[in-house]
Amino acid sequence: MSTSSLSSELSSARRSYTQRNPISLLAYEDATKSLPGGGTRSSIFIHPFPLFIERGDGVDIIDLDGHSYKDFVSDFTSGIYGKTDPIIKEAIIKGLDNGTQLGGHTTTESKLASSICSRFPSVDLVRFANSGTEANILAISIALHHTKRKKVVVFKGGYHGSVLSHFGEEEKEKEAEGANGGDLKVPYEYIVCPYNDISATRSTVNRHVGEVGAIIVEPMLGAGGCIPGTIEFLRGLRELSDETGSILIFDEVQTARLSTGGRQKILNIIPDMTTLGKFFGGGFAFGAFGGKKDIMSLFDARSPSSIAHGGTFNNSPLTMIAGLSAIESILTEENLNKLNDLGDDMRNRLNDSFAKEELPFKMTGLGSVNQLHCLLSSETKKEGLELLFFYLLERGYWIAQRGLISLNFAMTELDVIGFEDSLIESARSVKGFS
Ligand SMILES: Cc1ncc(COP(=O)(O)O)c(C=O)c1O
Repeated sequence: MSTSSLSSELSSARRSYTQRNPISLLAYEDATKSLPGGGTRSSIFIHPFPLFIERGDGVDIIDLDGHSYKDFVSDFTSGIYGKTDPIIKEAIIKGLDNGTQLGGHTTTESKLASSICSRFPSVDLVRFANSGTEANILAISIALHHTKRKKVVVFKGGYHGSVLSHFGEEEKEKEAEGANGGDLKVPYEYIVCPYNDISATRSTVNRHVGEVGAIIVEPMLGAGGCIPGTIEFLRGLRELSDETGSILIFDEVQTARLSTGGRQKILNIIPDMTTLGKFFGGGFAFGAFGGKKDIMSLFDARSPSSIAHGGTFNNSPLTMIAGLSAIESILTEENLNKLNDLGDDMRNRLNDSFAKEELPFKMTGLGSVNQLHCLLSSETKKEGLELLFFYLLERGYWIAQRGLISLNFAMTELDVIGFEDSLIESARSVKGFS
């Protein structure tokens, strides 16, 4: 079949999506009157218009037209607890009785901090923020302040937040968070190096000795396509930081869920600083940055020369309560291992089937965080992935239109097996039109 048959099948899939979702379409048209593009979060926009979600229940999301989908996006990894976890719900309800804004220190805040410090080998002290983006901005800023240097090493395909993304032209195609054709960037002095290439990184950094204050890296590229960092690369960065006196920051906003202490614990590579976000707020807005005592103590308000770090909602009582109940009762080693094994098994089985049937797809990732890649030509692969997305919707499964697939605790093994079957059937149909 030719490219045009793929294109015309995609047009017909978009038409039937539009016909199936008249109420979402109306809601979307209305939303565009007050929100640019009808939304306030670029990553969740889908073509030709987004579904409007009415509610969630366990593993399901239900849209305004009454369709129920098994959610394999899990809010881009932050929705690890499913939609209605009873432990978190109970903690929040109790918390509500004590008031939502207290404007003071609470022991819940220090208990959450203590849990995070005991889990992450690199974190002696930690501070909270309201998002992963904010945590990364604070981590980079304090690293530059500490080293009295100006330059930050980042990696091509890296995503550290809405104003900290480093997608090249190729990656822009993936329409990752905040990168749909242009990105606003915090104006640090960046040096962009190739991911997983330690010798190229080393020779670039060595040309700027004495200038590089921070190296920030995701232990697995997340929005950049779920590409795991190799041990040689991540270990090489550790050595390079030591040699050049720069601060190594691991952005574990996504990879923290790969074990109780993130990927650093699995690989035993200990950065100077770590940033977190997403699920540590138990479903509420959250970010955290922490690290070595000498760096983090710069924020110690007992010192007359301390660095100020404000933030009205940094210790928002409900976030602290939800986060603490989640980390203590749900993010256990046993639960995380089970979820990550489920993801590894799913990816291995799917890749075996793709290869055996010569289907034009491949899945990359680690544990419960994965990305589907379409292997058609560079002109048609985006269409192939979009068509697969529509086929899966028709079968009752919700994945990110750009191919992210992330599991959550509300899922059973049967949910995952049902998803795999539907994905393979959908991939066969895409192959038929390619
Ligand atoms: C690795 C990574 N860092 C940082 C962020 C930004 O977090 P937030 O969306 O909470 O600002 C994300 C979000 O997807 C992420 O994946």
